[in-house]
Amino acid sequence: MDLQHWLRLAVTAVERWQDSFAPFGRHPSLHVSDEAFAGALGAFTGRLRDNYPYFHPSYAGQMLKPPHPAAVAGYLAAMLINPNNHALDGGPATSAMEKETVAQLAAMFGMGTHLGHLTSSGTIANLEALYVARELHPGAGIAYSAEAHYTHARMCHVLGIPGTTVPADSLGRLDVGALDAQLAGGRIGTVVATAGTTGLGAIDPVHEILAVARRHGVRVHVDAAYGGFFTLLAALPGPAGPGPSEPGPAGLDPAPWRAIAECDSVVVDPHKHGLQPYGCGAVLFRDPAVGRFYRHDSPYTYFTSDELHLGEISLECSRAGAAAAALWLTFQLLPPRPDGLGRVLAAGRRAALEWSRLLGESDRVRLYQPPELDIVCYFPVTDPASLAAIDQASARMLAAGMGDPADPVFLSTLSVPAADFARRHPGVAAGGDRARILRSVLMKPESEDWVPRLHARIEALAAGWRPC
Ligand SMILES: Cc1ncc(COP(=O)(O)O)c(C=O)c1O
Repeated sequence: MDLQHWLRLAVTAVERWQDSFAPFGRHPSLHVSDEAFAGALGAFTGRLRDNYPYFHPSYAGQMLKPPHPAAVAGYLAAMLINPNNHALDGGPATSAMEKETVAQLAAMFGMGTHLGHLTSSGTIANLEALYVARELHPGAGIAYSAEAHYTHARMCHVLGIPGTTVPADSLGRLDVGALDAQLAGGRIGTVVATAGTTGLGAIDPVHEILAVARRHGVRVHVDAAYGGFFTLLAALPGPAGPGPSEPGPAGLDPAPWRAIAECDSVVVDPHKHGLQPYGCGAVLFRDPAVGRFYRHDSPYTYFTSDELHLGEISLECSRAGAAAAALWLTFQLLPPRPDGLGRVLAAGRRAALEWSRLLGESDRVRLYQPPELDIVCYFPVTDPASLAAIDQASARMLAAGMGDPADPVFLSTLSVPAADFARRHPGVAAGGDRARILRSVLMKPESEDWVPRLHARIEALAAGWRPC
């Protein structure tokens, strides 16, 4: 796609619409000379060079990549109008787009009736889900796995809810037996299941968590901020509900993904795997009646229509209509279906599986645990084989990879507790409470072709040399 061509068309279309109104003069206070702008822009674009190359497959670090050009064009065109999706008079077109994209997300999870909206982030989306959880079970606690995103403990603190950690199993998934025992205590109102943990990409057994939770009369919220779109590889859309475990087309067990439709709420971040720029999370509730917890009076808004204004079901007030526009335009071209966005995610997952195969054959680098989605964690083989040596060598590899001017590679580290490490690699001597290992999120489909090169670079870094 020729971005410059499409951006020009997008800007022209908005200008044509603006020209349909009576002409007026722009205020002189807003005037800047071309010369001044050229100078400021030059300085600005120069500053932007101080970034890691998130667009390039040599960036194999955190969950970062640029949006799809369709999202850029959609965002830019809408931003020129700058609608606010809080109320229908703030952005009629983009509010309608938001409702349509949220319905597409609900369909992706097989949710029939639902209430949901976009948010500015996964954090805010989870905050809203936990807020509703608190309103439904006042005084009760919220349980989440030791591998859940830190936002859950933090937001429990913000909301004044007692948060409880449930241990994870040897693959980083919530331990259902331990959960059962905790729920028997009767003090938990909601369990958070994570469909794709941030650190390891592990998938909590949502279907088993749901069964246990229902037995105890407890709600289930699914944090699928990172992993949610992988449901496209595991289960076909439709209200299938928890069913027998037939592997999906990509070898992913569909049972946890199908169970999401039966859970009480789910969060997914289009700004992670939905090809969107930052500022696009989403929260969906299965029971539209929870909208009552958002009820508030606003003397300034909601005056143009009796239809639902998105601000009436959101804790945030102003929200970028441009975020909904970007997602809508992207979904027109790459819909959240196995044959649309699913193909993008499948490539990243294949990359992770292939890299894990290569790591399994390496005597310089070892796989921390088999990947389930597109996150690969690994660590250098050291002599002595101790946690402290692995920690130091991982940090050295990270710095050496980024600092190599000729052939840089950008990784990230994951700090793992000594006990978790020992469960997976009992042969490594302890020494310290935690160790840094290396972590790569292969969320760009281009990573698939780059895996042999990434692997060669990582092996070379582990050996302390670089091949010519
Ligand atoms: C599982 C999970 N939940 C929540 C979040 C927080 O999302 P955000 O960074 O959009 O606030 C993340 C971010 O990586 C995540 O992976």
